[in-house]
Order: sequence, then C-alpha cells, then structure tokens
Amino acid sequence: MKANCWMGKKNVQVVDVPDPQILNKRDAIVRVTATAICGSDLHLYNGFIPTMEKGDILGHEFMGEIVEVGPELKTRKVGDKVVVAFPISCGKCFFCKNEMFSLCENSNPNAWMAEKLFGHSPAGIFGYSHLTGGFAGGQAEYARVPFADIGTVKIENGLSDEQVLFLSDIFPTAYMAAENCQIQPGDTVAIWGCGPVGQLAVRCCYMLGAERVIAIDNVPERLAMAHASGAQTINYDEEDVSDTLMQLTGSRGPDSCMDAVGLEAHAPGALHYYDRIKQALMLESDRPYALRQAILACRNGGTVSVPGVYGGYDDKIPIGAMMNKGLTIKTGQTHVPHYFQPLLKRVQDGEIDPSFIITHRMPLTDAPKAFEMFNKKQDNCVKVVMTP
Ligand SMILES: NC(=O)c1ccc[n+]([C@@H]2O[C@H](COP(=O)([O-])OP(=O)(O)OC[C@H]3O[C@@H](n4cnc5c(N)ncnc54)[C@H](O)[C@@H]3O)[C@@H](O)[C@H]2O)c1
Ligand SMILES: [Zn+2]
Ligand SMILES: [Zn+2]
Repeated sequence: MKANCWMGKKNVQVVDVPDPQILNKRDAIVRVTATAICGSDLHLYNGFIPTMEKGDILGHEFMGEIVEVGPELKTRKVGDKVVVAFPISCGKCFFCKNEMFSLCENSNPNAWMAEKLFGHSPAGIFGYSHLTGGFAGGQAEYARVPFADIGTVKIENGLSDEQVLFLSDIFPTAYMAAENCQIQPGDTVAIWGCGPVGQLAVRCCYMLGAERVIAIDNVPERLAMAHASGAQTINYDEEDVSDTLMQLTGSRGPDSCMDAVGLEAHAPGALHYYDRIKQALMLESDRPYALRQAILACRNGGTVSVPGVYGGYDDKIPIGAMMNKGLTIKTGQTHVPHYFQPLLKRVQDGEIDPSFIITHRMPLTDAPKAFEMFNKKQDNCVKVVMTP
C-alpha cells in the first residue's frame, strides 16, 4: 500500500510499504477514506519530537471502512464506517475505566522511553514517534487499529467524511480544552492560536457558555475565520497582546486563557530569538512563549487550559504568577473516546459542522506538498484533508 512516511526533518514521502495485518485479537484493519494533517504533525515534521525513525508512517487523524477484524472484536464488523481516536486505549485499565483514555497504561509498548522523560507514560498514539509506541499512522491506504472497540466510533447516519473526520482529534481536543477553561456564565476566554484547534475552540467555548471569546494570532485569514465564529481578535504583530487584553477586560484579565499554540510559538520582535536559540542549543525543549503570556494575562484565580503540545523541559515558566495568582492549570492529550458520542450527536443535530475549517482537499500522494503548505501557512491554508 501507499503511505506517507517521515524521512527526516521537513521531509515526508509517499512510498510503498507492506499492508498492515491483524496482530492482536481486538484489532481492526481500516481502509482509510479520509485523513488530515494536524498541527501536532508539524512538530514531527519540524524535528521537535524525539525518537522518530526514517520510514515511520505518519498520521493520527483518520477514518475509513473496516475491512478485517480480529477474533475478539465483537462490536465492530467488516463494512462499518468508523472514525479512529488518535490515542490508543485498552478500555480495561484504571485510566480507561475512568475515561482518561489518553493515559491508558496498556497501549504504549515503549512506555519505558516515555517514563524516562515524563516519570510516567501516556497512552500510545498513532504515527507519533517511538516515545508513544511507534504505531503506524493513518496517512496511508490502510491502518491497523488496536482495541478497535474502544478506539473507533461507528458512523451510521449518512454524515459525510468531512463532517465527522475531526472527531478523531481536533474537535474533541477543542472541546476538552474548552471544558478545561471551567467556563462560568459571563466569562471571557482568551485563546492563543487560531489554527484548527483554536478555530474549533472558539465555537466550543461559546457552546459551553462563554460570553466573549478573544482569539489571538498573526495570520490574517485565520483571525478572519475566528472572527466569523464570533471571536474578537488580536493580531499580535499589530497590538501588544497583554495591554489589549487588559483594556478589553477592565484591567482584570480574561477569566480563562487557552494556549492552542504549543511548542512552536512565535514571538514578536527580538524576543523571538530567545527561545529559538535556547531550543537550537537544546537548553530547552520547546518555545513556551504563548504559555508564558497566557499565565501572565490570566486574571487572579482564573484557569489556564493548555491543549497545545509540549515535549519536554522548558525555561522561564512564570511559576510565581501561577502560585501567587491562584491559577488552575488544566491540560492533557485528549481523551477522545470519552467525547465520541456527545460530539457526534452535536454534529448530527446540526449544532456544528466542523468541516468549516477545511481549506484544502488533496490526494494522499500530494502529502509532501500539503505538509509544506500547511507548515508555511501558504495559500491561506488552515486545514488539509487528504484522500488515499
Ligand atoms: N492536546 C491534544 O490532544 C492535542 C490535539 C491536537 C493538537 N494539539 C496541539 O494543539 C496545538 C495547535 O494545533 P493546530 O492544529 O491548531 O496547529 P497550527 O500550527 O495550525 O496552529 C497554531 C497557531 O498558533 C499561531 N501562533 C504561533 N505563535 C503564536 C503566539 N505567540 N500567539 C498566538 N498565536 C500564535 C500560529 O500562527 C498558528 O496559527 C499544537 O501544539 C498541536 O500539537 C494538541
Ligand atoms: Zn492531532
Ligand atoms: Zn487502558
């Protein structure tokens, strides 16, 4: 089959690889009908996540038709149309039983690697380095889905691939990030980052009762898209973010601040080079510029929600502000299966059609072009969906 493989920094290639096979009793093989590129894939593409190996199949946002099932997979059958959750979860461990699926303690065969870095390992993740299991991803014609009874949701009601594909990751991610904001009636939420996660988060914050959402980025078409969802916007190239947030909130600060940027944040002016240089010299893992700003901007007693991905050990996180202002920090890889049914219902009921973020549709064979375009934000690209 054809699959999009990581070949090194800023180098992906669609090549012929062996077809996946059933390895365990609750596996399913899915013929992929749609797959997307996530902002998290860019962290791999740009070489910031360790333990990638040449030839690793990328992709953790995918859906398709089940073509083969393992002998103990009873609740899915050949022919089912399913969306696949990006974290892999067994459904039986302490964390899965408590619906904390992205923390499953049975799905990462390389847990020892993650334990060295994090103390404890999170769940395995499709196409996301050997630290999270080295699982082949879904930017391919076929994929093996372990524990497919837990990790897939059946689509039975004639919804299109584009309407449901983002149940795999970014719609639940945006929703969990909005829940993590602990929104109360009347609240103002500020969101750093207007990528696909930020775009859906604007909608989710309103769904959960925010009175006002303020979205921050410097990419005009992304700010315009957030504005169309009802957000006030701040272009950080044109305005001082902290000053503007103070003005907009009567000097109190937003009730909740969300970092939907993650480890590749840009900073205006000379500050840009501070984290760039430290990151290049391996003196810090990530560029936590947006996170610092979110912590400092948040009102006293407020909540900082961090869906943005971080990889390791970072510098100058304002822990003094966190402590003295009594902030709550909530974060995590998303517990996707926990959100499958409620969010599918919202799509079915017409409350939201997450496909509004799709700007580009391309064949899988164009993956190298698609990655470059999404990474460089060319051609007003916000989200690419590829079809094998
Ligand atoms: N927690 C999870 O389970 C989960 C799931 C999916 C994605 N993510 C993470 O969420 C983050 C966003 O994903 P995405 O797909 O939207 O990515 P993206 O790269 O398309 O979007 C990031 C946006 O942040 C903007 N940005 C950069 N620096 C900024 C700054 N200083 N202030 C404000 N905006 C800034 C960029 O211009 C860009 O529009 C990534 O880190 C991704 O890895 C996490
Ligand atoms: Zn993702
Ligand atoms: Zn588990």
